[in-house]
Amino acid sequence: MPFSHSPIPPAPGQPGLSASDERGYALVRQRVLALTGIDLDSYKRQQMIRRLDAILSRCQLPNLTALASALAPGSEALKEFMERFTINVSECFRDRPRFELLATEIIPELARENPAPRIWSAGCSYGAEPYSLAIILRERHLTRASILATDIDPKILEAARAGASFTKADFKNLPGDLVARYFTPEGAHFRAADALRPLIAFRQHNLLAPPPASDRFDLVLCRNVTIYLTEEAKDMVTTYLAGTLRPGGVLFIGETETIHRPQRFGLTPRSTSFYQRAA
Ligand SMILES: C[S@@+](CC[C@H](N)C(=O)[O-])C[C@H]1O[C@@H](n2cnc3c(N)ncnc32)[C@H](O)[C@@H]1O
Repeated sequence: MPFSHSPIPPAPGQPGLSASDERGYALVRQRVLALTGIDLDSYKRQQMIRRLDAILSRCQLPNLTALASALAPGSEALKEFMERFTINVSECFRDRPRFELLATEIIPELARENPAPRIWSAGCSYGAEPYSLAIILRERHLTRASILATDIDPKILEAARAGASFTKADFKNLPGDLVARYFTPEGAHFRAADALRPLIAFRQHNLLAPPPASDRFDLVLCRNVTIYLTEEAKDMVTTYLAGTLRPGGVLFIGETETIHRPQRFGLTPRSTSFYQRAA
């Protein structure tokens, strides 16, 4: 009999899940938490249901209880979950005007206070963001700087460490001379220059856990990562991020994001997408 899975039905009269799917959702949540450390309760419910629905269809599973049973280390279901859960879209100098401000104003200013600035790229995906930062630092001869690049997804971190999965699409915001200087074609992809590598350390980290380093950062980037989180989870992440900044340090977020009432976190808006910790 050909497989058919019906979309996760809402309970009559209300959005969300039917009672049996509620139980299935709780089982999936437990399995995912145990296997990956990701707590689905921190993510917006409706979006998560849509993603789980797509996973059921893709894995040809009839319901969430079956998905919970299929989730095991190394399983197709877990691989599919991680792929759908971690949306790894990125590009170099994403939102170019903001990156230009970062390169010409923010980083030089931070470096005047600390000539060896410490930077955290949180949710770094396959590396377009930290390698963009490394290019800015090299161009400004700030070779004593360091970048900690973290992501929750171990597979994408391997790609980031290798620095070789860039395509032409990554470079649409990057001036041609910088592409030529810092990337070498390798088949259908481009490899980042060795000169950029010593500036970046990659590490797995879940943003919903306490920060990965005890030292303070001069600059923290957390861009296009928290958009799927609940408001409570987003506030918790912002508390962690702001807490890792040194006084006067800067937080750089995504172009579609804003921090509501930033003073709650000891932050002041500086210009679009940038917030500064009180000095
Ligand atoms: C859309 S990419 C953003 C990449 C880059 N920051 C940018 O703006 O181009 C989102 C990344 O966040 C990561 N991510 C999602 N949830 C996370 C979490 N709880 N902790 C750490 N990283 C997470 C995903 O694995 C993915 O690589």
